[in-house]
Amino acid sequence: MKYQNVIFDLDGVLVSTDEYHYQAWKRIADEEHIPFDRETNNKLRGISRMASLEIILQKAGRTYSQEEKEALAAKKNTYYRESLKNLQAEDTLPGVRETLASLRKQGVKIAVGSSSRNTMTILAQLGMTDAFDAIADGTEITHSKPDPEVFLLAAEKIGAAPSDCLVVEDAKAGIEAGHRGGMKTAGIGEAASVADYPLHGIGELLQIA
Ligand code: G6P
Ligand code: MG
Repeated sequence: MKYQNVIFDLDGVLVSTDEYHYQAWKRIADEEHIPFDRETNNKLRGISRMASLEIILQKAGRTYSQEEKEALAAKKNTYYRESLKNLQAEDTLPGVRETLASLRKQGVKIAVGSSSRNTMTILAQLGMTDAFDAIADGTEITHSKPDPEVFLLAAEKIGAAPSDCLVVEDAKAGIEAGHRGGMKTAGIGEAASVADYPLHGIGELLQIA
């Protein structure tokens, strides 16, 4: 492994909670009679809760007050957290646990860098709170991806220079955040096309020379 430090995004990289985000936003959009599909959902990957809502409301037939927006964002989070109750170790994406174990065995430092304010709940539910050298999440930052703040914080927590870090992402906004932070990037799914290292699965990380 060429990098001594790897920073992982959470939703859609370590765990399938990206699907739960989609389901919760879909429910909100349906209730509000706003068109919403998986293509629009892809634009929300890595983006904060409020910024995601703003994107969804672009297709609404009317304007929403700040109060209404805050209520909708809170409702989405309630729906999302309802689905998190069912989250189990098995929801960790294929190859994740083996890859993390293997990186650690090689002495690579591993961290989480996620815009989600639910990060600690999710990691606790998966029994993975202690699987990382550091965790940086949405509760600690002012600017979410594509701003590099959360990745820079993760790098700082593991004592690594950004140029020695590899970011692993499923979001184009996350790849941009990594690059803006001076990091190299590995991308899965739609993020593969803009990453330094396109991956089909997380296990391929181990082959980055
Ligand atoms: C991650 C997800 C986004 C989500 C954001 C905020 O970056 O990829 O889809 O909107 O976190 O999540 P939260 O759990 O705080 O609403
Ligand atoms: Mg993600």
